[in-house]
Amino acid sequence: MTETKKLYVKTYGCQMNVYDSERMTDAMAADGYVAVDTPEDADLVILNTCHIREKAAEKVYSELGRLRPLAEAKKKAGGQMVVGVAGCVAQAEGAEIVKRAPLVDVVVGPQAYHRLPALARDARSGAKQIETEFPAEDKFDHIPAPKGRRAPAAFLTVQEGCDKFCAFCVVPYTRGAEVSRPVEKLVAEARSMVANGVVEITLLGQNVNAYHGVGPDGSEWGLGRLIRALSEIEGLQRLRYTTSHPNDMDAELISAHGDVPELMPYLHLPVQAGSDRVLKAMNRKHTRDDYHRLIERIRNAQPDLALSGDFIVGFPGETDADFQETMSLVRDIGYAQAFSFKYSPRPGTPAAEGAQVPEEAKAARLAELQDLLSAQQIAFNQSCIGQTLPVLLEKPGKEAGQLVGRSPFLQPTHVQASAEQVGRIVAAEIVGATKNSLAGRLVA
Ligand code: SAH
Ligand code: SF4
Ligand code: F3S
Repeated sequence: MTETKKLYVKTYGCQMNVYDSERMTDAMAADGYVAVDTPEDADLVILNTCHIREKAAEKVYSELGRLRPLAEAKKKAGGQMVVGVAGCVAQAEGAEIVKRAPLVDVVVGPQAYHRLPALARDARSGAKQIETEFPAEDKFDHIPAPKGRRAPAAFLTVQEGCDKFCAFCVVPYTRGAEVSRPVEKLVAEARSMVANGVVEITLLGQNVNAYHGVGPDGSEWGLGRLIRALSEIEGLQRLRYTTSHPNDMDAELISAHGDVPELMPYLHLPVQAGSDRVLKAMNRKHTRDDYHRLIERIRNAQPDLALSGDFIVGFPGETDADFQETMSLVRDIGYAQAFSFKYSPRPGTPAAEGAQVPEEAKAARLAELQDLLSAQQIAFNQSCIGQTLPVLLEKPGKEAGQLVGRSPFLQPTHVQASAEQVGRIVAAEIVGATKNSLAGRLVA
């Protein structure tokens, strides 16, 4: 019998890191580790990091600074805190991390998480462990499936990596080339999730709609076909997917939005910018007009579709006129929700070498864009008032007797309901709306 040890995992970045953190916790559970909520007194601390923007990457080093006294305290008490850095900073910086932060014992890239138990074991003897290879095998094949009851809404990684090489982005370097998991494995994992209480699954991939996994018939299946197969699973009531690239929205996926009722009417489809000149410099390989026509086709298939996106302002060479084209695209398309960022130069990516837009211009453009996006989000949320929406109740809300769940459009929705309703999809009449959430009343 192995003795119980404490594992603290802190997750940064995208939903795939959230999923990976859960799987690392599963991998370590087999070695006797139980997850804890704070790093104090932990035997193993894992920072699952993000490299997408400079700020995201720098957070890791400040967190490591905060961990140092905790590791020292643990040592004084006769114990040992092994500190690991996982995720995209681990992949991008490798052994450099240990040089800059000697506290770190383990550096493990996203494709090597099945090696974590062995790395953590070896690190206890004091030798630094650096693992940033891209092994050929599926990391998830080697991690035992999670046991026991699960939250009603869960993630499932179906695809990883990216072959697109947008000029600003580190993901093709940190996550590697596109790899899709086979259909049968995904159906089996989804079935076991549903058996453990999951009713909504969000399919994840850096470029999820580029999914091209081997089907049971030996041919390659696209995401639309995978979604249709998953929708047949008894008890699985909702499906979502994220994040997509406009150029991979094929006819089968678009038609799934029209005729698979489990597929929620919500789509995160980043366009990044509205000017063709900037789109070209970004290596997005589509024009503004292509995006417009695509959105029209998807909305024809699913008229209720709520659209989300990502935008970058201040890409190298972006002029005020270019930026105004982003503003007009946002006005033309209309978003229910969106993320927007100042361009952040990333070492090793082509755009980092370009003529940089001054910081003040970036800040002013971001503020202008965010005002517009916020206004659209508030208007969308308010348009839901008076409607009755199906809400999947996920967990207790802040107030007593309150639960919070998600509408079909991913809006957090608060209702007065009892705790045993968690995991159910209830009908809620929407009676209030703010920028970030809805208030609903259960309809009997
Ligand atoms: N796989 C996703 C992108 C992941 S990164 C996709 O293709 O949509 C999430 C978002 O971060 C991107 O859509 C982009 O808007 C933003 N982003 C990526 N690199 C960036 C950079 N260097 N500076 C600012 N924002 C960036
Ligand atoms: Fe990055 Fe997405 Fe472009 Fe891939 S498609 S390079 S993940 S922004
Ligand atoms: Fe960040 Fe890596 Fe995800 S860079 S956004 S954690 S793929």
